Amino acid sequence: MKGSCRSASCNRSRNRVGLALAAALALAPAAAHAAGDPAAGKVTYMQFCVTCHGEGGKGDGPVGKALNPPPRDFTKAEFKFDTDKDGKAGTDADLKNVITKGAGAFGGNQLMAPWGHLPASDVDNLIAYIRTLEQ
Ligand code: HEC
Repeated sequence: MKGSCRSASCNRSRNRVGLALAAALALAPAAAHAAGDPAAGKVTYMQFCVTCHGEGGKGDGPVGKALNPPPRDFTKAEFKFDTDKDGKAGTDADLKNVITKGAGAFGGNQLMAPWGHLPASDVDNLIAYIRTLEQ
């Protein structure tokens, strides 16, 4: 209730609760997922990835169709490389490694080239976009 908090110490403790809440809210999404923007990721994807991975992400782009192993089908979200050996392939950290270092660095197709020259935010956005392609 407003006005029921008259003393200075009472006001201070209210502010502390408010700050703690704001900090928790600010941290929550970053902890759950790479903080990428899927809409921005789509723009980069359409520029650099679509020729192989295809418009819908099925790995059926004009260049991708000819490759063996083929580009990953993002609609199935079955990823191959466990780059950080944590027992799970396709985590955000794994996708980041494959995108920035290339699949060749992990024994895969060299034609999945390293994109380490992209700004880190672009890589996060690409990952966020790839996650939206799962069906
Ligand atoms: C010249 C074709 C080509 C282009 C361009 C390309 N990729 Fe790939 N990508 C591949 C191929 C081929 C594979 C499968 C590699 C394998 O299985 O050895 C792959 C696999 C992947 C994987 C799956 C990794 C896994 O663990 O399964 C991701 C993620 C990926 N690419 C992201 C991207 C992104 C993001 C871009 C654009 C910045 C991109 N690729 C551009 C050909 C391409």
